[in-house]
Parts: sequence; structure tokens; C-alpha cells
Amino acid sequence: MRCRECGYQSVRWLGRCPGCGEWHTFEEESPGPTGPPSVEPPRPITEVAAVGEPRVAIGIAEMDRVLGGGLVPGSVVLLGGDPGIGKSTLLLQAAFRIARSGWRVLFASGEESALQVRLRAERLGTLHPELYLVAETDIERLESHITEVSPRLVVVDSIQTVFYAGLAAVPGSLGQVRECTLRLTRLAKRTGIPVLLVGHVTKEGLLAGPRTLEHMVDTVLYLEGDRHHNYRVLRGVKNRFGSTNEIGVFEMEAGGLTEVENPSRLFLSNRDAPVAGSVAVSCMEGTRPLLVEIQALVGASGFGTPRRLTTGVDHNRVILMTAVLEKQVGMILSNQDVYVNAVGGVKIGEPAADLGIALAMASSFRNRPVPPDTVAIGEVGLTGELRPVPAVEKRLKEAAKLGFARAVLPEAAKNGAVETGMELYTAGSLKEILEIFFAR
Ligand SMILES: Nc1ncnc2c1ncn2[C@@H]1O[C@H](COP(=O)(O)OP(=O)(O)OP(=O)(O)O)[C@@H](O)[C@H]1O
Ligand SMILES: [Mg+2]
Repeated sequence: MRCRECGYQSVRWLGRCPGCGEWHTFEEESPGPTGPPSVEPPRPITEVAAVGEPRVAIGIAEMDRVLGGGLVPGSVVLLGGDPGIGKSTLLLQAAFRIARSGWRVLFASGEESALQVRLRAERLGTLHPELYLVAETDIERLESHITEVSPRLVVVDSIQTVFYAGLAAVPGSLGQVRECTLRLTRLAKRTGIPVLLVGHVTKEGLLAGPRTLEHMVDTVLYLEGDRHHNYRVLRGVKNRFGSTNEIGVFEMEAGGLTEVENPSRLFLSNRDAPVAGSVAVSCMEGTRPLLVEIQALVGASGFGTPRRLTTGVDHNRVILMTAVLEKQVGMILSNQDVYVNAVGGVKIGEPAADLGIALAMASSFRNRPVPPDTVAIGEVGLTGELRPVPAVEKRLKEAAKLGFARAVLPEAAKNGAVETGMELYTAGSLKEILEIFFAR
């Protein structure tokens, strides 16, 4: 039902409109602003207008690049990420940049009060009169705010807090999230206003519900990072208007997220000098490459059975690498304790990390560092042979972007790697690779 005076929407008939206070104004809704878009006849693709509005650059280069060159008018962008990673911070900074360039922005916060957002904006230095703030979670009221304020960008933090009063389900439930996203999507398409949504990642690592949200929006970005380190990586997971190969790197500081133009500086700052036992690997997380540092500590054990302790890596693969290093390379580890750790609390299950794990163990055992700008990719077989893994090129490109200059690869994976401009070390077996790095 909709009020014919002010357009206030309600699921049931109301005697008096809460929007404008008029009596008996509710009537059955004709396909209005939130109804299906106006009917257009089918036409040849060649006759569809080819020029749309240009993209809007936010002015944060790392973010614009991930978006594929700025915000597409009428698009809906979802920003996901772990709690406290910096989603609100990033979007507040983006909103400010847009507002500063003379475009009005409506920032709807359901997570924090207007005062809290203002205090944050003061800390980030993102106060601007064109940046409008509202602490609103009712989607219908939010829609009317958008109509009133007529912003050029809408930010909703977060989609899980927004609800439609017409549904009995609690905010954050699948039905609510789906309904509210749908309404915002329609609004964006109809008005051309881009909408940025924050979405929380559940314990299972998914955005509310089994990826429903990801299907509904145009672009999905994730803000990732290790909470104990300052760097954050903004990554495109889905983009209807650009590639998903780009990443943006930021550093979290008291004044907000600052762009990192040379990520290698950041990445290698954790690993200043070369240290024995540390090797970076490039793993695929779904379709996304992720660079992870593997640390190994191999040292003489006391009495009894030597210890094999792992965190973040597949324990069985470590046992396997220990056996391969002993048998095929001749490294005596049966009297050594072996500890292997993936930095940053990630979990790697891929055999593609084998080579990195073996290299890190050998490096620690020999007490000889591998150069810190080296990434290792490859599976190691029981005979010590190196096997290629899928998506080598994608993994290497990501590594190159993050500042890695050398790659250790199975001979058979060489073809996929030539274009990355990295220095390549390839071999057919683990033994040969170790000779390259630890000869003498
Ligand atoms: N006073 C401060 N000084 C420096 N850094 C701060 C300060 N307050 C917050 N931060 C940083 O900002 C981060 C929180 O960012 P933000 O609130 O944008 O995250 P979020 O992803 O929106 O979190 P949530 O999921 O809780 O909404 C903190 O983890 C911290 O690193
Ligand atoms: Mg937040």
C-alpha cells in the first residue's frame, strides 16, 4: 500500500499516513518507484543507446582500480570483510572524496549512531557539508530519505542492519537481506545513483546466506588483512564492469586507510632482512590467489620422538615433505623437530604450497635464507618430482603486484610464467631446486 499524498509505503492499509499525517490516503500500489522498471519494448541490440554516463572516480586510486576505473552509475557495490577490518572507514573516506568533489552523498548507518559516525569522521578528517548522515535501518524510510536528499551516491552500512517492515523476519536474516538488497538495486538502476553496501562476513566466511548477495549486486569487493598487521587488501571478487584481477593495498593508520603505492615495501617490511625458514607461497582461495608466508623451524630435538607441529598448513603434507626431504634429498630430519606455520592465521590446504613448505624447511635446516622477494609455487610428489598446479599465471601476477621479483616453479609450469617479468627458477625436482638455492 502506498500513500497517494507523500508516497509513504506500508504493507497494510493505514487510516492515517505516518509520512504526511493525512487520513485515508492509502491505496493499492501501482508499480511505483520500487515496482518493476517501466516497460520497454525489446529492440535490436544495435539500437540500444551505447553511451551511458561516465564512471565516477572516487579519487582513491587503489579503490578506483579495483572497481575497474571508478563507480558505474546505477551500480550496486558490496563491500565485505571481517569485523573491524576497516569497511566503515574505507566507505566513509570514499564518501568524503565524492562529497568533496561536489557530489552529495547520503551515508546511512545502521551500525553506529550519527554521533559515532561524526566522531569517526572527525578522526579521519572526512567532514564535509555535502556528506549527509542518517542513522536509519528501515528500508522504506531510507528510500524516502534518498528521494528527499537526492544524493549522487548512497552508502549503506550495513545491509544486515536494514529491514523491510513488511517482512516478519529479523534484520540480517536471509529474507530481509535479500529484500532490502533488491529494493536498493532497483532504486540504483532506476535513478542511476550508485549504491555502496557493507556486508558482514559470517563465521563460514560468506556474505549473509549462501552467496545470495553476491549474485544480486554488480560488484563484490572484499577488504582483507591480518588484524595484527596494518595492511589491508581490497580485492574484487565479482565485477560486472571490470576485471577481478586487480587488488588495492592500504595501510590502516590512526587517520584512516592510506593507499600503498608500492606494496612490496609494506609486504617486505614484515620480513626486513632475509631470514632462514621463511618462504612465500601463492595459494588459490576459490578463484582468488592469496600470498602467504610460510615459516618453518627445524632444529635438533631432545630425547624421544621428534615433534612435528603445524598451524595453518596441512599437517599431512608437512609429514610428507619431511619424508621426501629425507629420502629424496638426503636431509636427515628424523632427529629434528619440525614446526611449520602459515603467517596471518590463514589455512592452506593446497598441494601448491608443497614447494614453499619444503623450501622453508630446508632453509631453516641449512640455516640459509631464501631471498624475501621469492615466491614458491608447486606440488611435490613422493619421488621428489615437481608438478605443475592450476592457475600459475594468476598466482604469479598477484605475487608480482605485491612486489615479488623471483618465482620458484616446476619446470612444466614455466610457460605460464614468462610474461610476468619475474626472475624464474625452475627445475624438475625438489633436489635441483634446493641445489639452486643452497649450493655450496
Ligand atoms: N582511534 C583510533 N585510532 C586508530 N585506529 C583506529 C581508531 N579507531 C579505530 N581504528 C581502526 O579502525 C578499525 C575499525 O575500522 P572499521 O570500524 O571501519 O571496521 P569495520 O570493518 O567497519 O568494522 P565492523 O565490522 O565492526 O563494522 C579498527 O580495527 C582500528 O584498526
Ligand atoms: Mg563498520
